[in-house]
Amino acid sequence: MEIIITKNPQEGSLAAFDLIKKAVEEENAQVFGLATGSTPEGLYQLIRESDLDFSDKISVNLDEYVGLPADHPQSYHYFMEEHLFSKKPFKKSYLPDGMADEETAIKEYDEIIKEHPVDVQILGIGGNAHIGFNEPGTPFNSTTHKVNLTQETINDNKRFFDSIEDVPTQAYTMGIASIMQAKKIILMAFGENKADAIYQTVKGPVTEEVPASVLQKHDNVTLILDEEAAKRLNE
Ligand code: GLP
Repeated sequence: MEIIITKNPQEGSLAAFDLIKKAVEEENAQVFGLATGSTPEGLYQLIRESDLDFSDKISVNLDEYVGLPADHPQSYHYFMEEHLFSKKPFKKSYLPDGMADEETAIKEYDEIIKEHPVDVQILGIGGNAHIGFNEPGTPFNSTTHKVNLTQETINDNKRFFDSIEDVPTQAYTMGIASIMQAKKIILMAFGENKADAIYQTVKGPVTEEVPASVLQKHDNVTLILDEEAAKRLNE
């Protein structure tokens, strides 16, 4: 793993932007795996304000809440539209269909991933080291599946909703095996509340109890951390 430690999230976003720019301009990347959450917002802002052109590129997002329609303000469809696609359209952008039944949603998304192998995957990380919505205990060989979100993840996400009752309890997510197929992975983590997850991911054993630890087995991963998220790495 390559680890880039920056002073703050702004510099971390710039470092991630530089890697995306290089992927577009020098590496001929065609398919971008995208993530939601507050962590990549700065990166998406830099992309929105840049002159990078994605109009002939494909994007494939990690996950979507079950039961939220695309026009629901807390859906990941809506998030991506607002933070990126409305200003920086891709030729085609895919997210799991949160309104589809389980069998259809999963089958469709696995086909989409197969048809569009990801060149560069952006990842955030949960406080419990989940990636996408792959919670601790998810098998490393998982493909797209429906998950029951942990109470910790529901609590983490309640800040985006009016009340905790409004937070969906399930999501469709790309699996860990699907994520690991990306040619290059850029994981971003900012803030002290990610320090334990980053420590386990980098220094801990590779275990399904720490979903992001699987990245130790990928040969092209860059972690972009701020000092807070990196603070346990010297232990
Ligand atoms: C959600 C998303 C993840 C994201 C995580 C962390 O669970 N499914 O993809 O990494 O939140 O979010 P944040 O970046 O807001 O801390």
